[in-house]
Parts: sequence; structure tokens; C-alpha cells
Amino acid sequence: MDLTKEEQSILDGEFGEGAQKAIELIVALGKIYGADGLVDITSAHLSGASYKTIGDGGLLYLEDMVNGGAKVTVPSTLNPVGMDRKRWNEMHIKDDFAEKQIRIIDLYGKMGIQTTCSCTPYDGVNVPKLGDHVAWAESSALSYVNSFIGARTNREGGPGALAAAILGKTANYGLHLKENRAPTVVIDADIPDTLFSHSLLGQAVGSVIGGGIPYYRGIKPGMEEGKTMAAAMAAAGAVAMFHVEGVTPEWKDFDVSELEVVHIGKKELDDAYDKLNTADDVQLIAIGCPHLTEKEMHEIASLLKGKKKRRTDVEIWFCTSERVRSKCPEDVRIMEEFGPVLADTCMVVSPIEGTFSRTATNSCKAGNYLPTLCSQKVMCKDIAELLKVVE
Ligand code: F3S
Repeated sequence: MDLTKEEQSILDGEFGEGAQKAIELIVALGKIYGADGLVDITSAHLSGASYKTIGDGGLLYLEDMVNGGAKVTVPSTLNPVGMDRKRWNEMHIKDDFAEKQIRIIDLYGKMGIQTTCSCTPYDGVNVPKLGDHVAWAESSALSYVNSFIGARTNREGGPGALAAAILGKTANYGLHLKENRAPTVVIDADIPDTLFSHSLLGQAVGSVIGGGIPYYRGIKPGMEEGKTMAAAMAAAGAVAMFHVEGVTPEWKDFDVSELEVVHIGKKELDDAYDKLNTADDVQLIAIGCPHLTEKEMHEIASLLKGKKKRRTDVEIWFCTSERVRSKCPEDVRIMEEFGPVLADTCMVVSPIEGTFSRTATNSCKAGNYLPTLCSQKVMCKDIAELLKVVE
């Protein structure tokens, strides 16, 4: 790998231990993946923020980083944590968990990271531009910015994204290079134009192709459909980028005429649905994976307006960012007749397994992770269908 004089000095420790550790990790990754050098990044988004997922080992690691003087050098945001930091007592969170979670958030803050704690930072908080190199963790978010914005990031893990944020650079390989952003398969999609169908589409495609870069025909997704597809494809497979004909910014840049075409229609969506649904009744309905946008908040509020929640044995959580929650007070008022509108957190990274064993969601990403990370049986349906459970 070619390093500049300054990068070599950082590697030699002349800029302190924090920067040295960061560049050691980035260079090691670059060597594994055949990078020719480093590239400047304009932002980072970090995962590994919930006490449930990183535990005491992660907390100690972050303390070491802060004690060593680590600071990020580019705008950086943080993924959801294990609880709403103001309303955690409504989520059955224990005092010990809450205390450690607040410490983790504070440690990230001390490193200069915006502790927004959302998986949709591209929705008004951390918004890259076309062609920007960035280092993002959170599989749904990085796929969204690669695909819908045309920013360039690999599928970073938490430590890699943090090292890049400290250094302001990442290794130049994979999706940072235009030639690696070419589609690998054409998806001929024939699906209903609903949000949930787009989530099932992402689930079906992730399951069928595993990795690679799909090029979609037959759909016109907006932000909401795009983010749920990105999330499901990354969870069911390992897809970090996709193109949509006539929609995403790089769709015209490649010749797809020789690629294999895979048809995804009703049968594939039904198969995906059947695999995800393992519960007939539920104790928790959790909506907002990835975090709800303002448009989704309005739609849910108008679905709920004038209705009553009849079942008291089922809780409902709505998950969004603090920014969106604060912008929609009237929607929040209507939704909270049914259940709390939570910020900073979600059903997967919160320790729900201590309270619930059967959870419903409208997100195929959550449908993948709730059984494995939260020991839940799952109901995965359209929001309107889910709300019928409690009406
Ligand atoms: Fe976001 Fe949690 Fe889903 S981090 S993408 S709401 S699993």
C-alpha cells in the first residue's frame, strides 16, 4: 500500500497513540482487501452502541479509547442504543443496564461523535453527497447511502468505522472504486406498490442472491421503500449496494445487457413471508425498523386516528430518531394513545428478551434478527394488519 509522508508519520506514532492505533487497523484491512492506499472520508456512522451488543468488554474498550485521547476528525453519528435515553423505564429496562448504556453514550460523545443514536442518519442529520467517500457501519444505512445517494462506503464494522472516523481516512478498496459498483444481477420485480411488499422484495432478493449488487427493474421506490429494501437485503443476504432503473443516481453508469435476470414476484414474496412468520399471537408490536421517517409517522397517525387500542396485553412501540419525534408532535400525540414513540433505540438492540417472547414487526430486517438476537417468535406483516391485532 502506498502511504503519504503524513500517513507514514501517523503509523510511526508521531501523532499520538489514538491515531496510530486507528491507522494500524485501517492499513491492516487495506492489506487484506488489496487497497492501493487510503482515501479521505467526509463522514462516518458508527455501530456497536448498545450495551446489549457490546457488553462490558465494549464499554472497557471505549473507556480505553477515551483515556487515550481518541477524537474523531470528521462528522460522525451513532447507531441506536439499547433504550430511549429519556424514557427507558417504559421499556422494562433495568437500572444497571441503563447506567451502563448512558456511560457508553457519554464515551462516544467525549470522542466528538454526535450521539443522535439513529439508524437513519441520512434522514436530515448526516447526509453525504454523490461521490463522497464515507465510512459507515449499520448495514441498512450504508446500503441506503451507497445506493440512493451515490456516496461510497464498504460494509464497515463498528471498530473499522471508528478508526476511520478518528483518522478521517479509510482504505481505498471495494465500493470506494467505481468499477466495483457495477451491478452483478438484474432483478425483474413484479410486486404490489406497498411498503411491506418492498421489505419482502428485499428479503427475497437477499435470500436468493446472497451478495453482489442487484439492478432492479419494475419498481420506483422512494426513501421509505428504499430503506426497508436496503435493510432486508443486508439482513437476509450481505448486499451493501443496489441500483434501481430510473431512480438511483448511478443506474445508467453500467451496461447490464449481459447479466443474468432473476424474476421476483408473488411466489417469492409468499415464500419470504412464510419463512419469517412463526408466531400466531404476540406480546409486543414494534414498528420502525429502520427508524420511522416523518412521512411514515404521518401515515401511521392517520391510520390510528379515531381508533382505540382494545387489547391491554399487547404493547406497541414506535421507533424513530429524536429529530423526527420532535418534528411530529401531533402524530406523536395520536400514536401514544397506542404506545410510546421511542427515540435512540429499536426492538433488536434493546434487551426485549427479558420481557417478551413473541414480537410483531413490519420489517423483514427485524424479522430476521428478532429470532436470533432476541429469542423471539415473530409475526411479520404490513402495519395495517399488525394494528388490527390490538384494535
Ligand atoms: Fe435500525 Fe434496529 Fe432495524 S438499528 S435498521 S431499527 S434493527
